[in-house]
Parts: sequence; C-alpha cells; structure tokens
Amino acid sequence: MAETTFAAAVPPHVSPALVWEASLDAFTAEGDDPFVAISRLHDGPPIRWVTDVAYGRSGWLLTRYDLISQAMIDYEDFSAERPGMIADLVGENVRLNPIEIDPPAHHGNRRLLNPHFTPKALQALEGAVRAGCAALVDAFAEKGGCEFISQFAVPFPSYVFLDLMDMPRDLVDRFIGWEDAIMRAPDPRDRMNAAREVYAYLKRHRERQLDEPGNPLLDAMVHGEIDGERISYLASMGMFYVLYVGGLDTVYSTLGWTMRHLATHPELQQALRDDPALIAPAVEEFCRAFSVVTTHRQVARDTVFHGVAMRAGDEIHLPLSLADRDPAIFPDPHRIDITRRPRHIAFGTGPHNCLGIHLAKRELRIVIEAFLARFRDIRIAPGETYRYHTGRTFGVEYLPLVWERA
Ligand code: HEM
Repeated sequence: MAETTFAAAVPPHVSPALVWEASLDAFTAEGDDPFVAISRLHDGPPIRWVTDVAYGRSGWLLTRYDLISQAMIDYEDFSAERPGMIADLVGENVRLNPIEIDPPAHHGNRRLLNPHFTPKALQALEGAVRAGCAALVDAFAEKGGCEFISQFAVPFPSYVFLDLMDMPRDLVDRFIGWEDAIMRAPDPRDRMNAAREVYAYLKRHRERQLDEPGNPLLDAMVHGEIDGERISYLASMGMFYVLYVGGLDTVYSTLGWTMRHLATHPELQQALRDDPALIAPAVEEFCRAFSVVTTHRQVARDTVFHGVAMRAGDEIHLPLSLADRDPAIFPDPHRIDITRRPRHIAFGTGPHNCLGIHLAKRELRIVIEAFLARFRDIRIAPGETYRYHTGRTFGVEYLPLVWERA
C-alpha cells in the first residue's frame, strides 16, 4: 500500500532509480551542522528526485557544483519566473524584480539597479553601516556578552536596509517584526498580513519619493527608464520589495554561522585581529563554507539534463551549500581555510547573481572588524549551545556569546 502511494506521487517521466523518498529538510537537520549533514549527498548521484524537497513538494535536486552553476546560468531551460508567489501574498500583480524575471526582460531592470550597488557607489553608505554596527554593539558591550542573533545579527541588516532606502531608523523594530512573521510565522495568515503591511509601507515610501527626489537609488526605482520607457508602478514596487527580502535573512544567516565559527576558533580571532588585511579573504571563505541559500528554478521546456529527462513545470532545487562544499571543487571542503581564495557561488551565478554582493561582503567585514577590535576571546557562553534552522536558508537562531573587553 505504501508503495502505491509513493509511486503515485512520482510523475511517470521520473526514473524510479533516481527517486529518493525523504524530506530534504529533515535529512539536513540531522546532527549539529547542516552543512556537513547535507554534504552526505555528495556520496550519491548528482541528480535526484526528492519526494519532499521543500514544504512537502517533490522535485529535482542537484547535488554538484558544476550542475548547480549550469542550471543557474541556463535561463532558457531553467526559469526563475514564479508568477503569483508574491502577488498572492500582497494582493497586487507584482513580481520580485529582477529575481522573478528571466532574460531578456531581466537585463533592463538589472541595468537600472547595478550602478547603485558597485563598490564605489556603496562607499557612500560605509559610514552609516559602521555607525549602525557600533550602535548595536554599544548596547551590550559593557555586559560581557550577548545573544548574538536577536541582539545583533537580526537588527543589523535591517538598519542597513533602512539607511539604503532613506527610511527612519526608528522603524527597525517594526521591520524586524514583519520579517520574522514573513519568514517564520506558523500561521500562513500571519505571514500574509506581515507581507501586506511591509508592502503597504514600501508603497507609501515610494509615493513620498515622487514628490521628494534626491536619493539616486530611489529616484532610479521610481523614475528610471527601462528600454526607453519609464518604469511601471508594478516593476518599481517589485524592486522595492526585492531589496527588502534580498538582504535581511541572507545577511543575518551568514553572520550567525560566521560568528559561531569565530567563537569556536580563538586562534582565528587572534590571527584576524593581528592582521586585519586577512579579514577580506576570511569573509570570502566564510561565504563559501556557509553558503546559506537554497534557490530553485522551474524547468521551462522538456529537456534532458545530464542524461536525465525533465518535464516543463518540474521544480529544480539548487542548494548552494552543496555546490560550495563539493569535494571535487574544494578539497577538504569542511575545513575553513582563509588562504583558499575560493571561486564560490554563495551569491549565485548567471544573470541573477546577487545584486547586493558588495554590500553584503562589506557588512560582514565591518562586523568582524568591530567585534574583534572591541572584544577578546569571544566564545559560546559556558554550558550553552547554539540552535539553527534549515530550509530555504540555513540560519542560526540562538548564539549566546561571552568575551573579555579588548
Ligand atoms: C550574505 C548575504 C547574501 C547572500 C548569501 C545572497 C545570496 C544571493 C543569491 C544566491 C542570489 C541568486 C538567487 C537566484 O539566482 O535564485 C541573490 C540574488 C539577489 N540578491 Fe542577494 N544575497 C545576499 C545579500 C544581499 C543583499 C544585502 C541584497 C540587497 C541589496 C541582495 C539583493 C539581491 C537581489 C536584488 C538579487 C536578485 C538579482 C537578480 O535577479 O538579478 N542580496 N542573492
């Protein structure tokens, strides 16, 4: 009987030899390190059909760096368009722009945003990012420790977002509340309400920019031209919303794993403190080793991918954690080696590679510099342990730290 149910769940074009009847999420959460847990899949085939690949849905799973990169680059076979996802949530026919738009339409939207996310353009934000970081650290510096996730890793990227968007910093608690509900509320109605409230706030903010131009990024998103035509209201709202969702969970998650690693490797803390020039290569290696995002695509047309027949409409899942710990590309992949200079894809590859890559790396560098300059011997509080979640992003949820003042 169980076999009949199982067979019914697997579409006929999927070879039974490739079917893995499992929950990817549960498999990944075994043990105390999800990056090590998921990498057990490197011992199996490069392509599998998983009966519960995400949220109870079935689909393809790629397990190797080369294949995952190829699927991200090949937008003609693997589409990033997911019509309806955000629209259903916020009640307007909007798409995340540019992440849910395939080339060639993608290019014009991306071209509008790119100039505002170059290292040079972001230089203007450096002071604000440092000030946001210092303000948060000041609040607990005298206490000899903090719960790093709730007191730092979650609010910090929200501050950066508010600064980037010229929004008042005192909105931070509301933004964190909304983000928490969208990402983690068990009741879907709470998730939807939070998404609608954020959307409504972003809409009001956009309207204010119509009368008060001056911020180059916001001006581009409100008045910019795409392929010779003024950006539409929905394309503009899609950009506002993507900047909100793109840079919060990802940064908080990467910060959590990075700090957990530092807190369990005092010798690395000292090496980075002694020679701050090592912080930039260390950030690169942390991004590789803690590639937190699992993204996905939809098969756009019937195709045969590395000998496997896939049908239009199939979901295909791409855990970047598997790509960036692939032993064929990164020898001894679980060892964190800041001299490695890895060509990782933690920020994606192909047309949708991360718009915020330079901002994210700058944020990580600033945080590491600030903590190492102010605290010595950062470690997990005695008798405590950390907690994490898996899913679309691997995130640390609880990380109690203690330290000595530098
Ligand atoms: C450590 C932090 C971050 C990580 C690991 C990360 C990761 C990624 C990944 C993997 C993608 C590609 C997704 C795909 O192809 O399906 C992506 C795209 C994107 N990210 Fe990030 N990201 C981070 C920070 C940020 C920040 C701070 C921003 C905001 C400014 C941002 C904005 C975006 C946008 C707008 C896209 C879509 C680009 C496009 O479709 O052309 N990200 N990111």
